[in-house]
This record gives sequence, C-alpha cells and structure tokens, in this order.
Amino acid sequence: MLSYGRQSITEADVDAVVAVLRSDFLTQGPMTPQFEQALARCCGSRYAVAVSHGTAALHLACRGIGLGPGDRLWTSPNTFVASANCARYCGAEVDFVDIDPDTGNMSVDTLREKLEAAEAAGRLPAAVMPVHFAGQSCAMAEIATLGRRYGFRVIEDACHALGGRYRDAPVGDCRHSDMAVFSFHPVKTITTGEGGAITTNDEALAERLRLLRGHGITRDRKRLGGSNPDGWYYEQVDLGYNYRLTDLQAALGLSQLQRLDAHVGARRDLARRYHETLAGLPLALPRESPDCASAWHLYVVRVEAGAEQRRAVFEGLRGAGIGVQVHYIPVHLQPYYRRLGFRPGDFPQAERHYAQALTLPLFPDLTETEQRGIVALLREALDGAGPRE
Ligand SMILES: Cc1ncc(COP(=O)(O)O)c(C=O)c1O
Repeated sequence: MLSYGRQSITEADVDAVVAVLRSDFLTQGPMTPQFEQALARCCGSRYAVAVSHGTAALHLACRGIGLGPGDRLWTSPNTFVASANCARYCGAEVDFVDIDPDTGNMSVDTLREKLEAAEAAGRLPAAVMPVHFAGQSCAMAEIATLGRRYGFRVIEDACHALGGRYRDAPVGDCRHSDMAVFSFHPVKTITTGEGGAITTNDEALAERLRLLRGHGITRDRKRLGGSNPDGWYYEQVDLGYNYRLTDLQAALGLSQLQRLDAHVGARRDLARRYHETLAGLPLALPRESPDCASAWHLYVVRVEAGAEQRRAVFEGLRGAGIGVQVHYIPVHLQPYYRRLGFRPGDFPQAERHYAQALTLPLFPDLTETEQRGIVALLREALDGAGPRE
C-alpha cells in the first residue's frame, strides 16, 4: 500500500544515529541542545525546547501559560484530537471555532463573532490554539490582534507546518504568538521517530518548559537560593513530567533538519503537479493563501459531490493499493467530546469538510511515476463514483 505520508531517511541520518549509539549519552546528552539551537535558528525564534512528542509539547505549552480548571482553550475542530486534549490534561474546558472551508483553518471572522458573544457572556478563553492545517499557516496577525483586544494567549499548533512561511517569515518565529508547537512524527516534514518541540521568544517561558519537561526538577543554583553545595542535590519545584527527547532522536532530528528545505521543496513540487493534473476533475483543490507558503504536509482534496461519492473514491483507491486518508474527523464528534456536550451540527463547516475530504499521498520520496499513477486511478474512481442515473 502506498501510504499518504512517510519518512525520508538517508545514510547521513543512519550515521548520525549510529554515532550517538557509540557515544556516552543515549539521552540528555549534547545532541538535544544542538538540535534545539538549530531548530530555533531555522524558525527564527529565540528558543526551542525539544520534547518526546508533539502531544507532550502541546501539554507543556498549556502548562507553560498556567492553563487550569476554570480556564477555556479554543481550537479548531478540524485537527487531530491532541490539539484539544492538551487543555483537558490541565483540567481546562475546550471549545472550538469553526473553519474557513477554503483553507481548513480556523476562520478569523467566526473567531471574532464568537469572542464578541463570549465577552458579553463573561466566558472569554484564556488561550486560543490555531492549527496550521495541512501545513498552511492560519491568519496569525489577525488572531494576534484579537488576542490583544480580548486578552487571550496564543499557542500555534504548527505540527503540520515546519518549513512553511507566513508573511515572508518562517512558521514558528512566534512573532504573532506566545509559542508554536511542532511534531516530528514520521509523516511530518522532518522526523525523529516520535518527538516534538516548542518555539518561543520568551526566556522565562522557555525555562519553565525545560523545567516541566524533566519532572519539575532543578539543580540550578539561581533557583536553589544561590548555592548548591552538595553535588547530588536537586529540588522538585513543580509537578513536571518525563517528556525528554533522547539524544538518538535529537541526532536524527538535527540530520533531518539539514534537509528541511529540500523536503518542503519536494512537497511543493508534488503539490504543484497535483494542481496541474487534477484541474478540471470534480474536486475542490487545496488553495494557498497569498500570505502563505505552505509546507504541504498534506494534500487534501474535497469530493464536492458528497459523502457517498467520497466513500466510493476512498474505497476504490484503497482497493487499488493507494493509502488515501481522511483528515479530519471533527474533534467535537468524538465520543469523549460528545460526552462533554458537543453535538453534530455545532461546527457545520468542519463537518462538511470531513464529509468531502480525501488526503492523497504526498511525501518527498514519492516519484513522478507514482504520482501520475495515483492521478489516473483517482480519475477512474471519480468516474465510477459519479451520481447514479
Ligand atoms: C495537528 C496535530 N497536532 C498534534 C499532533 C500530535 O503530535 P504527536 O503525534 O507528535 O504527539 C499531531 C500529530 O499527528 C497533529 O497532526
């Protein structure tokens, strides 16, 4: 089965990991800070904190701003469940802001209207988490302006978007947010196997994230009243976690990061070819907004004829060995979130998007021949799935 996404691994990656295996440190050695510095440089942020998963990064970001019971976090319903779960881990409430159907991203107009209503009802969010769906940045400048007006913090879920750009600057520079969160799962633009990171320009926040990554334990003299006479001594000063990235993973990440531009370039070329070869078919193709250069983590088309045709096309392609996917089942429709009171119809644009969405294979090593084969099979599947006379 040709997967919708997969890693690209070179001999240089293998050598980098093997070198760590032969070194003194498998975890918490010199590779993690090197990876963090390289990532911060690449994103144009002052700090980067590497952790074990994107989900851990989202959780730490919420802890970093002190999100807790009585607080609300608003995110997109068109995302992976982790974008909402991170607030639930902190005991906060979650709500969603419906999407702009053209981009699959949180709609700024809907956000503005929801904020006006929430202000009147005294139920403003403590934080908003825009999700850069498929690798394309949300309208961050507008969201940041609303953040200042309504007093909420902004955490970007940029798990899809490492290597993407917004207004001629890299995603993750945190010019319009408190933090940006990345995932290095194998389908993403670079991988560490499992892994994640948070970028920020706030020194105190970066320090707090590092503390929480390692059980809330410190050996830092500054924090220990100016001295630490005993070599063994440490203090747990907060309730943290073991969210460390290993040095094996950091070495892979550092090696992969050297090829981020090449990976994203290959993704952009593939996306361009999909645009050209799919034009004229009964599909809505993904659009890049003029403010953005997408990292093209996903190429999501919409089968506008509807859910039944989408199902037929999905099954036709899967039957032919093409591992198409669907991104995303709206988070509010998951049984866990329905138990919290959400219902079908609450976020109609995300639900419509879900009914029509189909993710086509897109990853750097996908060949032109494979891609043309996918397009031919998709054409056939669409013909077969047309409305019945
Ligand atoms: C939008 C989004 N947020 C968060 C995550 C969680 O990342 P991880 O799998 O590294 O925990 C993912 C991963 O698939 C994601 O796509």
